[in-house]
Amino acid sequence: MSGLARFNREKRVIMNRCGRIDPEQIHEYIADGGYRGVVEALCQPPEALIDLIEAAGLRGRGGAGFPTARKWRFARVAAGTDKRIVCNADEGDPGAYMDRTLLESNPHQVIEGMLIAAIAVGATRGLFYVRAEYPLAVRMLTQAVEQARQSGVLGKNILGSGIDFDINLFQGAGVFVCGEETALIRSVEGYRGTPRHRPPFPVERGLDGRPTVINNVKTLAAVPPIVENGADWFRGIGTADSPGTAVFSVVGNVAQPGLVEVPMGVTLRELIFDICGGIPKKKKFKAVQIGGPSGGFLPADFLDTAVDFEALTRAGAMMGSGGMVVMDEDACMVDVSRYFLEFTQKESCGKCTFCRIGTRHLLDILRRLTRGEGRQGDIDQLETLSRAIKTGSLCSLGRTAPNPVLTSLAYFRDEYEAHVNENRCPACVCRVMTAFYIDQEKCALGCDTCYGRCPTDAIFTSSNRKKGIDQSLCVKCGECSVACPAVYGAVIKISPPHRVPVIERPPESRF
Ligand SMILES: Cc1cc2nc3c(=O)[nH]c(=O)nc-3n(C[C@H](O)[C@H](O)[C@H](O)COP(=O)(O)O)c2cc1C
Repeated sequence: MSGLARFNREKRVIMNRCGRIDPEQIHEYIADGGYRGVVEALCQPPEALIDLIEAAGLRGRGGAGFPTARKWRFARVAAGTDKRIVCNADEGDPGAYMDRTLLESNPHQVIEGMLIAAIAVGATRGLFYVRAEYPLAVRMLTQAVEQARQSGVLGKNILGSGIDFDINLFQGAGVFVCGEETALIRSVEGYRGTPRHRPPFPVERGLDGRPTVINNVKTLAAVPPIVENGADWFRGIGTADSPGTAVFSVVGNVAQPGLVEVPMGVTLRELIFDICGGIPKKKKFKAVQIGGPSGGFLPADFLDTAVDFEALTRAGAMMGSGGMVVMDEDACMVDVSRYFLEFTQKESCGKCTFCRIGTRHLLDILRRLTRGEGRQGDIDQLETLSRAIKTGSLCSLGRTAPNPVLTSLAYFRDEYEAHVNENRCPACVCRVMTAFYIDQEKCALGCDTCYGRCPTDAIFTSSNRKKGIDQSLCVKCGECSVACPAVYGAVIKISPPHRVPVIERPPESRF
């Protein structure tokens, strides 16, 4: 499928203007219909605005899919003045860059969404929480806020309406847990960014003790198109329970990785194969991980699952904020689970015991398994610990961190059993349980490609002018296998019970 055909399958609502207008020119946004939503919002009572968002069925794109109108209504009726709107642009999931792209390429749509939220809620101050690792997004936002001020859409007496609303920017230090709304608030207030028990929810007592709406970048960017086009238009896209579109960053073993915006309800098969071009190098699809580092793995049997909040949760994954990692047949699910646990364990803030110590234990077991040091009882312990962490953790970081372990155990249990019972890695990924050798029949030319890539000089020329691998020097990096031309495919990976054929290294070997 060509690149253009791929775009024909997308439906752009949130990213509609990205790449079409110059993000540094407010006039381009206005000329394209931008800030019309604010004018319409100012012409109706705030309650009607919230009713409109409710009728559209907009749900938060920050992970949990919480109904946006309900959050706004709570904040509107909350006692107190000087209410706040916070745009959560922390986006800490590894490999995810949906929010960053949106802020870099169309900051005004997010500002407009915040402004409409402020009118609906009765807020006077807004805040962008952006991680400092997003310097271009910070620059674009700073510039866009200043332009909006100069154009009269931010500041005192917006567009002559008598309403005041201004926005500041806060740069987060790049800590995953600070994307959690209560940790975010503490981080802005100058404390260590750790979550706290709720209630009170931020809509009652948020930033500086004021009622605060915290919405994701994409949620806010979806608001202006709804105000302009109406609730029925938005409901006409996606599914009954999850109207609208979803933006995913699809990475991993797909032919065309990148950002895609699709109507909710498309299947994983359509997304991965029709839109992103399927699995490269004629490999088989093995699993997809959806929902960021603590999302679940779904195997091939689930390819016809619809991409929406409920269907993904039912299948054991979650929508999350839109990270999607595709894996082909070469992935070891034990090793991939270890990889994601490394991230969540490192990012655990340490405030609650289940998350702090539980994820540490989970990671220790997974590391042992990938080192070939599995013990009887490990699988049971992984399951027990995972359930305890899910139940006992304070915030969703801990409550979701075991998902990769639980779903890989549910769908790829045989791989765990092979690691524990047979000291074998079926995908030949875990180094200790893997060996490489060169098939003498397939090594047709005896070319030096593999030799040139070997970092430890383990490759030698055998007496029949073919190549061989000195097992005592091989560090199992797999570079030779990558280097060997695909037509030969002479470098073979094996795991027990297979044994490496012995190829003698001639004493006079040149290499
Ligand atoms: C560990 C953790 C990290 C989070 N990171 C983000 C984030 O980067 N961006 C985001 O919008 N929400 C994040 N959330 C969810 C927020 O707590 C909150 O639910 C969200 O910002 C609400 O916005 P929405 O209603 O528009 O979805 C995170 C939650 C947790 C538990």
